[in-house]
Amino acid sequence: MGAPALALAVGGVLLVIGLLGHRFAIAPMSRLPGPWYTRLTSLVLIYHEFHGRKRTWIHDLHLRYGPVVRLGPHEASFASAAGLKEIYVNSGGYDKTEVYSLFEQGGHRNLFTALRKDEHKEKKKRLADRYSNSSILNGPLPSVIKDRADTFARVSSEASSMDIYFLLHCYALDCVTAACFHPHGTHSIEGPDADLVHALSYHDSRRALVLRHYAPRLADLYQWAMAPRLKGVDGETNRLSEYAWRWCTQQNVIDKKVAPTTLAARLYDFSDDELTPADRVAECLDHIGAGIDTTGDTLCFLMYTLSLPENAKRQKRLQDEVAAAETDAYLEAVIQEALRLWAPGTLPLPRYVPAGGRTIDGYHVPAGTTVSCQSYTMHRLSADVFPEPESFIPERWLAVDIDRHAAERNRHMFAFGAGSRVCIGKHLAMAEMRALLKSVYGQYETSIADDMHYSMKMSDQLMTSRPQDMCCKLSFTPIRKE
Ligand code: HEM
Repeated sequence: MGAPALALAVGGVLLVIGLLGHRFAIAPMSRLPGPWYTRLTSLVLIYHEFHGRKRTWIHDLHLRYGPVVRLGPHEASFASAAGLKEIYVNSGGYDKTEVYSLFEQGGHRNLFTALRKDEHKEKKKRLADRYSNSSILNGPLPSVIKDRADTFARVSSEASSMDIYFLLHCYALDCVTAACFHPHGTHSIEGPDADLVHALSYHDSRRALVLRHYAPRLADLYQWAMAPRLKGVDGETNRLSEYAWRWCTQQNVIDKKVAPTTLAARLYDFSDDELTPADRVAECLDHIGAGIDTTGDTLCFLMYTLSLPENAKRQKRLQDEVAAAETDAYLEAVIQEALRLWAPGTLPLPRYVPAGGRTIDGYHVPAGTTVSCQSYTMHRLSADVFPEPESFIPERWLAVDIDRHAAERNRHMFAFGAGSRVCIGKHLAMAEMRALLKSVYGQYETSIADDMHYSMKMSDQLMTSRPQDMCCKLSFTPIRKE
């Protein structure tokens, strides 16, 4: 070997040793707890993400290493109230990462996909009033939601076995489209709009989105290969887009064809310089997309669990409370427990550490590091805050059971996110869940249908989880009045 080649080889070895030394001993991320290989590479994280095991991998790491875990050389997960507050709440929270750009509607940045805080603040100012609790309760929505809930209960009881996964997604679609375009919300529970739900709630986009994020060229190839399977889906997605374009127009707002309380009407309070027609439609499509699987899946997991024989007493307690109509305390507890266990945004909500770096839960984390909390772990890690964390125990939320951990429970709840990026549809979703449970358990007992052979295990998309087989068969029996 000549001298230049030798120098090159020695230089290369020293470089690798230097890099390893830095990653293992000097880099601030090396001080975070976590498996040794996460000092060197994010490949394990990406592998689990591609295969739909990111949530459980991260959760297992937290069980092993505690509330702070390094996931890669530039990525960490936190599962403590202190971490949550620092990342999402303090000073308006950190900026979102580019992962959210995967959810842009036709290249338009909406409320959900705005990455920077300042950009988001502007957008939120325009929309927040539409979804405040008082706007939801005082407009036409409560009667629409009640009508949709009663229709759901009636249709579900028409056969001895009904797939509520499908019907609950129809219910959520009908409610959120009413918020956008009342009185032109869809009627998918009992009508022709049901096809839209097939396209919106059964797709499997995780692998395509992971590839799109990490290897866009491979993603193009994957999309090309999958094109025949996605054909029908594209058609229905276009139909949803046509529907949104039909009702989100200035003329409809001027002619009062859509109610002044709708999202569409609000979007026309702004000039075309601020929002193009396409921006407005994209915003509506975004809210429709965000409002279906979230509410539908939470209700599906909850109704399934309430229908299991071991929860017969809990279902009866809910029926009795609804019949007495004096308080909603148990109903609220049941919903809260469902959100703790199954609110679909179970995976990390990633953010960038701002310039200068930050101390998060006692660890210095450099600027530009991706940090996150995932609700699945926030709601389960501390057995002090949530004893028997895997069990469905609505009673833990009741006032009579309040103990010194009551405030802690709320500080750990992350079902709707937190801080300035908290879910804007939270009050709408809560109104939908209350109305549906009242309508069903005011009239029916639900039980697992004889032909319910489908898995209700949580199965992951990019940022959300849903029932694995996307089918949940229940039987509805009218409650006998004594
Ligand atoms: C049980 C039902 C729901 C759950 C569990 C849920 C969960 C969430 C979570 C966790 C976030 C925060 C995402 C992040 O910070 O990265 C979020 C944001 C959002 N959600 Fe929901 N959601 C629900 C229902 C709805 C509904 C019905 C709508 C319809 C309007 C909606 C619209 C949105 C929008 C537009 C955002 C972005 C807000 C922003 O960035 O300011 N969600 N949701």
